[in-house]
Amino acid sequence: MQPLIKTSDLYLAFGGVIAADNINFELYPGERLAVIGQNGAGKTTFINICTGYLKPTRGKVWFDGTDVTGMTPRKIVRLGLGRSFQLPQLFTEHTVRQCIEISAARRNRELSWFRSLESTIDTRDVDETLDLVGLRTEANEISADLPEGKRKLLDVAMALALQPKLLIMDEPTSGVASEEKHGLMETVMHALDERKVTSWFVEHDVDIVAKYATRVAAWISGQVAADGSPDEVLNNPQIKSEVLGT
Ligand SMILES: Nc1ncnc2c1ncn2[C@@H]1O[C@H](COP(=O)(O)OP(=O)(O)OP(=O)(O)O)[C@@H](O)[C@H]1O
Ligand SMILES: [Mg+2]
Repeated sequence: MQPLIKTSDLYLAFGGVIAADNINFELYPGERLAVIGQNGAGKTTFINICTGYLKPTRGKVWFDGTDVTGMTPRKIVRLGLGRSFQLPQLFTEHTVRQCIEISAARRNRELSWFRSLESTIDTRDVDETLDLVGLRTEANEISADLPEGKRKLLDVAMALALQPKLLIMDEPTSGVASEEKHGLMETVMHALDERKVTSWFVEHDVDIVAKYATRVAAWISGQVAADGSPDEVLNNPQIKSEVLGT
């Protein structure tokens, strides 16, 4: 099977900080990867390199067999690599529905001055996405007015509207009250299963990692310190002391 993501010797330093230290990594279709690691370990940097937001000093990234090293984020998204952000990137002055419409319209073509947004929208498609993440009742609310948990769902819905093969989520539950985290993940993971999207999420909550991941990779100082089944990695003595603090 061809990996969806493959990196070879990815390296990036910020001044004296090595944020990606020769990372060799593969992710396969159907996996649900959780990435764990302390603040500053390089989890977001690795995502930013894979999605085109940062260029590595050395090394290469392939997405689904295509060399995407140095490609723009926009081109990489079109190939089927979606992402959501540590802080949701919404069109804050637009409604929930409009946010998904704008995202869906970007899938096949640029928005142009000659063709209105309305003419490019498949309403049924948008409704389906709204239902999938349970935001139909909020469809006409301004996205900035949503509580954080729903903003996170909208961010995921906007990424799903682009019909990705892989969705990378940077801390999908951060900023959400702990009693809401499991419900949020339940909705997100169900939506990803429905759309048959492979996923990779950064998460600090061990219970969530153990419950939703099929594979865990632990980052320490820009390197993958452990990579394996949740059981293996979460019980690894080095990971317990240096990452989980237990
Ligand atoms: N644009 C940047 N300029 C300078 N240093 C950066 C930049 N982005 C990240 N860094 C540094 O690189 C290291 C890795 O940061 P990164 O954001 O990837 O960590 P992280 O694992 O995502 O942490 P967190 O859990 O806090 O989100 C840190 O030391 C950070 O300060
Ligand atoms: Mg981060």
